[in-house]
Formats: sequence, structure tokens, C-alpha cells
Amino acid sequence: MKHFLQFTDFTREEFEHLIERTKILKQRFKNYIPYQPLTDRMLAMVFEKSSTRTRVSFEAGMFQLGGASIVLNTSDSQLGRGEPIEDVARVISRMVDIVMIRTFDQSILERFAANSRVPVINGLTNEYHPCQVLADIFTFIEFRGAIAGKTVAWIGDANNMAYTWLQAARIFDFKLQVATPSGYEMKSQRGEALDTAYLSAFTDPMQAANGAHLVTTDVWTSMGFEAETAARQQAFADFMVDAEMMSVAAKDALFMHCLPAHRGEEVSAEVLDGAQSVVWDEAENRLHVQKALMEYLLLGRINS
Ligand code: CP
Ligand code: NVA
Repeated sequence: MKHFLQFTDFTREEFEHLIERTKILKQRFKNYIPYQPLTDRMLAMVFEKSSTRTRVSFEAGMFQLGGASIVLNTSDSQLGRGEPIEDVARVISRMVDIVMIRTFDQSILERFAANSRVPVINGLTNEYHPCQVLADIFTFIEFRGAIAGKTVAWIGDANNMAYTWLQAARIFDFKLQVATPSGYEMKSQRGEALDTAYLSAFTDPMQAANGAHLVTTDVWTSMGFEAETAARQQAFADFMVDAEMMSVAAKDALFMHCLPAHRGEEVSAEVLDGAQSVVWDEAENRLHVQKALMEYLLLGRINS
């Protein structure tokens, strides 16, 4: 049984399979061709943080594949009253076929997975957001072809998205140029070495954006870090992705943002709503990649 708890859980070859499946499933969906290999299968989604895209894309995706889903929020389940995550995992995984969790520490997700009888998917933790980066890479490939050998610029906070991009850089063999304010740099997490073969770190965002084929950013304050909002707004004030920053990237550079975005903070309205931005395709692709992911975790390699 496989889980998708972080990007390194899959090999490049498994991702290539998922990308091919995503293309097929997306095309089928666009042509209104029903494809329901997961009839009678149930997805449980556990949310300890808010969500719009993750919830809708998983629920719609599971329905389109013939299955159904249940949502549990901390506030209205026994999780909010202190039931141990191990017990929740034991119970839920006897009743459903696959679980997605959005939570705080990666260790909570790992404890859930260790006690689960069914595959578990990371729907965002403080450390990683692998479903989003999978959708982003699929989106890049759709617009520009292979990402291997390309340069991705990450501007802003060294957060869950940034660390997932770093894991993806090694697997897909692209360069990651990260710009953070000093004091907010990427750090070795949980023994994970910062891979200088793939990572270049800057404190000047213009240097990180220079020559990049993809410029991407995210909110300055991630969920769970709200107490730091005021300090972060000051520290990140010069880190807005704007037209001037896009002008030093490659001529045909794309702009991505996992959303929700704050126009006028981490990205200007001009860039977010501009011609280089592919954020709406990126959001839509969550649906398609996660259908391929659930198919793979539940049924293995399907080629039809
Ligand atoms: N990008 C993303 O995961 O969005 P939600 O927080 O709305 O799920
Ligand atoms: N880094 C953001 C992503 C939201 C989808 C957060 O964790 O809040």
C-alpha cells in the first residue's frame, strides 16, 4: 500500500505515469466521457485548516471517478475534542478506501498514515503541499513541455510550497532559485539536506527571478502562522512579484500561485491577472492530477 505524504514518496517514473494519466483523464472529462473505475469507493477528507480548492477538487474528482466523499472538520468532529489521531486513523480507515488530510505538523499526518489501513494523501501540512506542486508541474508541462533543465524562481516565504518545490527539483531535475528576506531563509528541515545541486538561495528577488522559466510565489503568512502577520508584512514588503520582476525572467516565463492570493502583497494585480499568469489552469489541474493520484493509489497502474 502506498501513501502520498510528501513529494519524495514517488519516483520520477511514477510521476511520469501520473502525468500521462492526468492528460488522459482530463481529456476524457473535457469530452464528457464518463470514467468511473472507483464506483462504491469512499474518500474521507480531514481538515484541520481551511480550504476551498483542495476540498472542491478532491470531492468533485472522487464523484467523477464514480465514488463519494465525506468531509470531517476539526470543529465538528471528535478530533476537536482531543481524540488521538491514531485512533481516528484506525476507525476511519476501516470504513473508507482512501483518506486525504490537511493538518499542521507533518508528524500528525505520518502518525495517521502509520495507523491507516488505506492510502493517505497529504492535502497540505506546515511542511509540504505535494498535490499542489504536482498540479503546478503538470501545468508547466501542459504550457511549455518538459520541466527538466528549466529554472523555477520561488519568491517570498520558505514555506510548505517552497520545500515541496525543492523536493520536486531533484526528482524532475530542474533548478530552483529561491529569494527570501534574511531571517526567513530555507533551512534544513527534519534532517533533509538543502540540495545545493538544485537550489540557489538569494535575498534579492530580482536575482532569483533572473532568467527563470517559471516565477511562483505564495502568501507571506501561511495558515497556522497568523500571529506573525504584522512582522511578515514588514519583512516581505520588497518581495511582491510585479511586472518589473517578471521582466527579468525568461521572455516566455509563466507565473503561478497556488492561491488564495493577495493582490498588492505577494503579487501585483497586473501580474496575477496578466497574460503570463496561468493560475486558473493551475487551480483546475488540482482536479485532474488528484484523479490520477487516487486512481493510482487505489488501482495501481492503469493504462486503458
Ligand atoms: N491551493 C490550495 O490548496 O487552496 P485551498 O487552501 O483553497 O485548498
Ligand atoms: N502556504 C499556504 C498555502 C495555502 C494553500 C498555507 O499553508 O497557508
